[in-house]
Amino acid sequence: MAAGLAICYQLSVNDIYLSVMSMTSENQDFIEAAKTVLSMNDKGAYTAPVNSSMYPHQWLWDSCFIAIGLRHYDIDRAKTEIFSLLRGQWANGMMPNMILAGSKTSNSVNIWRSWVNPNAPDDVFTSGITQPPMLAEAIVRLGEELSKPERRSWYKSTFPALLAYHEWLYNERDPHNEGLVLLVHPWETGLDNTPPWMHELQDHQMPLWIKVVDTLRLTTAFNFLRNDTKSVSPKDRMTTPDALALYSAQRRLRRKNYDIKRILTRTQFTIEDITFNSILIRANQHLTNIAELINAELPKKLTASIQKTEKALDQLWDPYASQYFSREFVSHRLLKQPSIGTLMPLYAGTITKERAQQLVQSIENGQMFGTHFPIPSVPVNDQYFDYRRYWQGPTWVNTNWLIIDGLRRYGFDDHAEALRESTIDMVKQAGFYEYFSPLDGKPYGAPNFSWTAALVIDLLENTSKQTTKSRKNTRNDS
Ligand code: GLC
Repeated sequence: MAAGLAICYQLSVNDIYLSVMSMTSENQDFIEAAKTVLSMNDKGAYTAPVNSSMYPHQWLWDSCFIAIGLRHYDIDRAKTEIFSLLRGQWANGMMPNMILAGSKTSNSVNIWRSWVNPNAPDDVFTSGITQPPMLAEAIVRLGEELSKPERRSWYKSTFPALLAYHEWLYNERDPHNEGLVLLVHPWETGLDNTPPWMHELQDHQMPLWIKVVDTLRLTTAFNFLRNDTKSVSPKDRMTTPDALALYSAQRRLRRKNYDIKRILTRTQFTIEDITFNSILIRANQHLTNIAELINAELPKKLTASIQKTEKALDQLWDPYASQYFSREFVSHRLLKQPSIGTLMPLYAGTITKERAQQLVQSIENGQMFGTHFPIPSVPVNDQYFDYRRYWQGPTWVNTNWLIIDGLRRYGFDDHAEALRESTIDMVKQAGFYEYFSPLDGKPYGAPNFSWTAALVIDLLENTSKQTTKSRKNTRNDS
C-alpha cells in the first residue's frame, strides 16, 4: 500500500515536471512567434504597428510598449526604438503621436503639415498632437535590464528629452494650473473612439455636413477616404461619421497651426482625460526617480505641478457611480460614459487602497468588466458596448498590461496573475491580433500587431514574483 502510494506520488511529480517542461517549451515557442511578429514589422530604426499600409508610421505609445518587449532579448534595438521616437520631439518639448513615414508630398504628411508650427522638426514630418506619456515607463523598464553604470548613462542620455516633454505637458496643457492636463483630440488619448469623447463630439462638435451625410445615409461615398477599412472589416473599426468627425477636428487644429493659445481661444472640445492623466502620474514618479538617480534637479514649478496632479485626480471620482471619469476642461463637467479609463488610476498608483478595491470589484463584476476574456474597453452593460468595435468594447493587451501593473502595485497579486494568464491564453488561442472579443476571445482588427506581441513577451518574461520584487525596489533603485 505504502509502496503503491510512493509510485503514485512519483508519477504525479513526474507528470507535473513533464507538464511544466512542456508548458515552458510551449511558452518559448510562443515567445519566438512574438519575436517574429516584431521583426516582420521592423522598419530599421522603428517598429510599425503592423507591416501594411494600414499603420506605416511610428506611433508614440506603440513604440514605448514595443521597446518594453524588445528589452528582453535585444536591449540595443529597444534603445533604438526610443531614440528614434526622440527624433520627432518638437522644439517646445512636445512628443508627437506619430512620426510619419513618407515624403512631403505623401498623403499623411500633407494631412498633418507639421511645418505650419515653427516648433516642428525640419528633418522629419510628424503629427501635431501627442499621445499618452508612456515614455518614462519605457525608459525605466529598459533601465531595469542594464547594469548600474549603464543605467545611469541611459538615463542621462534620455533625461533632457523626457524632462522637456513633461514640462511641455504642464506649460501648454495645464493653462489654469489645475494639475490635470487637457487633450485637444481623441487621438491623443490613444483610445480613439472611446465613448466619453465620441459622445462629446456628437453632442457639441459634430460639423453639420457630417450630420447631413449621416442622415441621408451617404457615408459609403466617403469610404474611399478610409485606409483602415480596406484590410479590416468596417464592423471592427469606428463608424464613418465618427471617423470623418475626427478628421474634421484634426483640420481645425491644423488651421490653428497646432498653436495651443489659438486652439484654446475658440475650441470647446478640450478634455482632462482620465487615462492620460493616470499615465502621467506614473510617468512623473519615474521622472522623479530618474532625476534622483542621476543627481539632476527637477524645476520647482514642475515639482509643484507633479504634486498637484496626484491630488487633482481625486476630482475625477464620481461617488454616485463609484467610477472615475474624464472631465470637460472649461465647465468641469464629468463625462459620465463608462469606459476602461475608470480603471487607469490603478496604474497611477496614488489612489487609496479603498478606492482601488472598489475598482477591483468592477473588474470582478460580470455585468461590467468581468467578462470571459477581460478587460473590455467598455463595460458590457453599457449602451456603447460592441464586442468588436475598436475602443468601444474589445479587450486590448496594452490596457490589460497597465491594469496588471497597477493591480500588482496595490498588492492584488491574485487578480494580477489571473489577468496575466487570461491575456496570454487569449493571444495564444487567437494570435497576435490588435484586439479581441471580451466575450469569446475571437480576434479582431489587424493581425500580427506589434504591441500585442511585445507585451505578451513582457508578460511571459516578467513573472509576478519578479515584478513584486521590482515593485519594492522601484523607489531606491530606479
Ligand atoms: C490606433 C490606436 C492607437 C494606436 C494607433 C497605432 O490609432 O487607437 O492607440 O497608437 O492605432 O497602433
